[in-house]
Amino acid sequence: MKPKVIISTQLRSRIREALGKLLSDVAEVRFLTDWTSSDSLKEIRDAEALIPLHEYVDEKLLSHASKLKVVSRFGVGYDRIDVEACTKRGIYVTHTPGVLSRAVAEPTFALMLCLSRRILEADRYVRREWAKAGRATLPLREDLAGKTLGIIGLGRIGTEVARRGKAFEMKIIYYDKVRRYDVERDLEAEYVSFDELLKTSDFVSIHVPLTPETTSLIGEKELKKMKKTAYIINTSRGPVIDEKALCRALEEKWIAGAGLDVFAEEPLPSDSPLIRMKNVVLTPHMATHTIETRRLMMHTVVEDVRRVLAGKAPLNPVPEQKGKIFTKAAEAAE
Ligand code: GLV
Repeated sequence: MKPKVIISTQLRSRIREALGKLLSDVAEVRFLTDWTSSDSLKEIRDAEALIPLHEYVDEKLLSHASKLKVVSRFGVGYDRIDVEACTKRGIYVTHTPGVLSRAVAEPTFALMLCLSRRILEADRYVRREWAKAGRATLPLREDLAGKTLGIIGLGRIGTEVARRGKAFEMKIIYYDKVRRYDVERDLEAEYVSFDELLKTSDFVSIHVPLTPETTSLIGEKELKKMKKTAYIINTSRGPVIDEKALCRALEEKWIAGAGLDVFAEEPLPSDSPLIRMKNVVLTPHMATHTIETRRLMMHTVVEDVRRVLAGKAPLNPVPEQKGKIFTKAAEAAE
């Protein structure tokens, strides 16, 4: 009997079918919807690998998964996986860092340009107004060149954002828990305090993982420190910003606008005040949704699942599990 691998049906059908195909010689592949139902938990009981997208993998689910060897998250953020509980049970947790950094950096700039050049308004203007006699003129836009880009979190994605910021001739400043002397040297990025970043940036872009420490990292106090002309961009995780405070900041014009790919609740509820605001640009948590990147993510997941099922350590464990070897997987493969 081949080991059972469960794949999330939240993944687009083309990706999940391809994933399934790439694993079918070593695994019996099942696709699963709603990982919390009692039927699903029964299905998970004899699974050896799980490939979640946005599902939670918590104590409750793990208590049903006694054969599980690896949780291979399709994405870089693993805030919905209880890593400690997995580690305690000797279950690897892997993710797909690196391959998606450029894919996230690009829409960060798409959001910035949409805001600075008011692209959405310009598009509506062309469709509805431009050809009309007596048309209104659009206000002047803003350059990115010469502006200060403040990056919160200069990891893999933050660095790709800095690289693009430099190409746009922006001044790059950053705040992180650790100094990145290599990026400071290569991209002329300047390390500043969190406070200074908030006070001096024209664009604040967030690139941190969601952890207890980063939850509501940006709240009322922080938004009030920002320039009235500044924009905030979030392509990381919604709860890093206190969304209620952000709505007040946008409504009361403490800041000029926001470009958001992620939200406190997803999908963004249709009665969210953000929906009717003009100074925001919203995208549906799609920063990594490109053909090329999803393919790379898929191969990363496949390789790690295959490795663990063959009794080897995965190549992309989450940082908390770096260097750990779990014998459960190796013994079962012998
Ligand atoms: C996307 O949100 C990811 O975690 O990769």
